Amino acid sequence: MTKISSFNVIMAALLVSSVTATQRNVPRLRLSYKDLLSTNRSSIFSGHHGQLTLTSVFLDEYRDRLFLGGKDVLYSLMLGPTSTESKELYWPPLPGNRENCIQTGKDPQTDCANFVRLLQPYNRTHLLACGTGAFQPMCAFVYVGHRGEHVFTIDPVNVENGRGKVPHDPSFRFASTFRGGELYTGLTADFLGRDSVIFRSMGGRSTMRTETDQKLLHDPKFIAAHVIPDNDDRDDDKVYFFFTEKASEPGDREGAIHTRVGRVCANDVGGQRVLVNKWSTFIKARLVCSVPGPHGIDTHFNQLEDVFLLRTKDERNPDVYAIFSTISNVFQGFAVCVYRMADIREAFNGPFAHKEGPDYQWGAYEGRVPYPRPGVCPSKITNQPGREFGSTKDFPDSVLQFARSHPLMWRPVFPALRRPVLVQANIPHKLQQIVVDRVEAEDGHYDVMFIGTNVGTVLKVITIQNGNSLETEEVTLEELHVFKVPTPITSIHISVKRQAIYVGSPAGVAQVKLHRCETYGKACAECCLARDPYCAWDGFTCAQYTPNNKRRYRRQGIRHGNPALQCVDQNLSDVDVTEDDVVYGTENNSTFLECVPRSPQASVSWLVQRDDRKEEVKLDDRVMATEQGLLFRHLLHEDEGVYICRSREHGFSQTLVRLSLQVLQGDAVDELMSRDNAGFSDSIKERSAGSYRAWMPCTAYRSGTSSHSRLWFKDIVQMIGPSNLPHVEEYCERMWCNDKLRRKHKSMLEKYRQAQESARKARSKSSGERNRMPRDLKARDV
Ligand SMILES: *[C@@H]1O[C@H](CO)[C@@H](O)[C@H](O)[C@H]1NC(C)=O
Ligand SMILES: *[C@@H]1O[C@H](CO)[C@@H](O)[C@H](O)[C@H]1NC(C)=O
Ligand SMILES: *[C@@H]1O[C@H](CO)[C@@H](O)[C@H](O)[C@H]1NC(C)=O
Ligand SMILES: *[C@@H]1O[C@H](CO)[C@@H](O)[C@H](O)[C@H]1NC(C)=O
Ligand SMILES: *[C@@H]1O[C@H](CO)[C@@H](O)[C@H](O)[C@H]1NC(C)=O
Repeated sequence: MTKISSFNVIMAALLVSSVTATQRNVPRLRLSYKDLLSTNRSSIFSGHHGQLTLTSVFLDEYRDRLFLGGKDVLYSLMLGPTSTESKELYWPPLPGNRENCIQTGKDPQTDCANFVRLLQPYNRTHLLACGTGAFQPMCAFVYVGHRGEHVFTIDPVNVENGRGKVPHDPSFRFASTFRGGELYTGLTADFLGRDSVIFRSMGGRSTMRTETDQKLLHDPKFIAAHVIPDNDDRDDDKVYFFFTEKASEPGDREGAIHTRVGRVCANDVGGQRVLVNKWSTFIKARLVCSVPGPHGIDTHFNQLEDVFLLRTKDERNPDVYAIFSTISNVFQGFAVCVYRMADIREAFNGPFAHKEGPDYQWGAYEGRVPYPRPGVCPSKITNQPGREFGSTKDFPDSVLQFARSHPLMWRPVFPALRRPVLVQANIPHKLQQIVVDRVEAEDGHYDVMFIGTNVGTVLKVITIQNGNSLETEEVTLEELHVFKVPTPITSIHISVKRQAIYVGSPAGVAQVKLHRCETYGKACAECCLARDPYCAWDGFTCAQYTPNNKRRYRRQGIRHGNPALQCVDQNLSDVDVTEDDVVYGTENNSTFLECVPRSPQASVSWLVQRDDRKEEVKLDDRVMATEQGLLFRHLLHEDEGVYICRSREHGFSQTLVRLSLQVLQGDAVDELMSRDNAGFSDSIKERSAGSYRAWMPCTAYRSGTSSHSRLWFKDIVQMIGPSNLPHVEEYCERMWCNDKLRRKHKSMLEKYRQAQESARKARSKSSGERNRMPRDLKARDV
């Protein structure tokens, strides 16, 4: 077994950075788009014409179907166990509307089409679909048939006015929910996008809306709407809206925004003399998501990005998961806060915010609140003999007046434990969408969060409470590169039944399985280190954990991820590599010993063994540890020895690689090069024939500020000759940093990888199957 690896040096330099220990926010596993497709973890649908401008999704768990809305188009996907069958409907704007839209100066591509924004189940056979209709919102009923049949038709003539159901402008956010044949929507409902309002439409009752008043809604952006019952009395059902708006409270600078939870009673029919067909039960409270900062000043995350209701057996008390952001010139941060319904109700049952006049301070209203208290629904409780308030039309004028002037509650809603469950700051992407799955594990339940970013990735994250302390540990289990190119994720839906998420982006929709335990490895220790609540070691493999399975071996260590505890009687030595590979290097030249742990969270250390004595490798300018392995920039004869790469994660160490490094003199190299060695010769010849430069990484050269890059820069100079120093920069730019060469790097890397793969196969054939870590080079920066 031989291997020449000095030319990997450049690859290593691509990723030069000091080896770092466990880091916050570093995912335990990164899975590329290709990884996900090749393991059947993910599949992508991007429409029948290769491009789907996805604007709405409805996951129909009962029918096992996924309905998609796009630009002038609707899709129905039948979600089978293996394949997916799709049907398409063309649904353009009504005749003439596209032309009218263009005439008003709107953009023909991004405005003047029918962007389908709303897909809701309507009755047992039909969906309600609403689209922007080229700035003329319209709705139609889509026939989808009963469970089991795959029918999908629309009557394009029989459309209804969609005003108040979806915004005119396809780029505006809105939120809606359907209950009892009626649609509740928070949106801007006019052509100019100025009329911000909560609407109720459809069904038999007259349309309801909020009064136009900045006290009620001040430039709101609606994020989510949900019906959440208060008790068994359906008359007490309330519709909750989650939105941001301009702050009116004191202490906030001009233009500050706050996040609100607002609600109306589902049976609100407005007042008799005042508030006719206007909400009489609308109240709102502030949602706070903040972390304590230095000097007692909290960092507030005010901008709501997404809301997910984690429903439990108790339908009255779902957990409200919300992503927030705060973005300024100096700081970009994201947080996930969880709210309990009990805390939201308590704020609504507390004092109203009150201001005596424009020159007064805000405070808690301390006067007498009229009966029935604003925000209370007409129900069994209000409809007692002697005090008969069976409908909001029976409410006294004093109640309606008070409701109109006091929509805001004095006390804000704080998250559970008064702090976010997750905070990420100054990360290179934005967190935009969230769904959560509550998973039973060996030591209790875990809420697994799937968080969509603006760059086409989904993060699978858990937070672990350490003992009784408030300290939480965030663990990013996986970073899934769901889409081929960076694209903002605009929706995520979860099907616990199908154990999958459906991830929407302008590029299409991806079905991604919640877990794939085999990915973590073939040993108990690796399964334990994964800390994935979905997975456990069953004695033979890393497999899905099922709570009621009575198998004897079931090992899971989410809280501590400590395989030494969990896998004590399992064969730990299985994962250790015991055999040596031989690597040749040339004296006075550079050489690279590759070693990549499966998890970026593992820390790597190098030992060298000479005459049965092991010692740590001394690192300096000449011998550097990189993310991909050990780099000798200038090999000396005394470097010979057996190099042992060990990884450490959560106190668990294992040997990943043992390499016997042999240092050759010049002549020996020439001899070796002439041998055809497992397909390596081409690459070597290419390099020795003077195309060394083609291997040079633009990226490594460009990020020229870190000390490592500077070292690398020195290597470049050495290679092209010091006399040209002033021109090096220009030269590098021209030689290495153009697209053609970038492509060439790529194809060379591909060739190299194939050669390595076949060499690996040859090796494992000759040495028998050994359980070891993959050592493929990753071309992340090329
Ligand atoms: C993925 O699915 C295809 C078709 O069902 C199957 O042939 C293939 O073996 C699967 N691949 C893996 C890695 O499971
Ligand atoms: C569902 O609603 C549509 C549209 O109003 C109607 O045509 C259809 O008959 C309804 N179906 C059922 C089963 O009620
Ligand atoms: C553990 O693995 C080693 C090497 O694969 C093997 O020799 C040994 O018998 C195994 N021990 C047990 C208890 O399975
Ligand atoms: C490094 O190795 C390459 C290829 O074997 C050779 O062309 C080059 O001259 C060597 N450099 C030094 C400084 O020995
Ligand atoms: C390596 O460099 C040293 C001194 O710089 C020199 O004596 C030696 O001959 C060189 N070895 C080879 C193989 O070039």
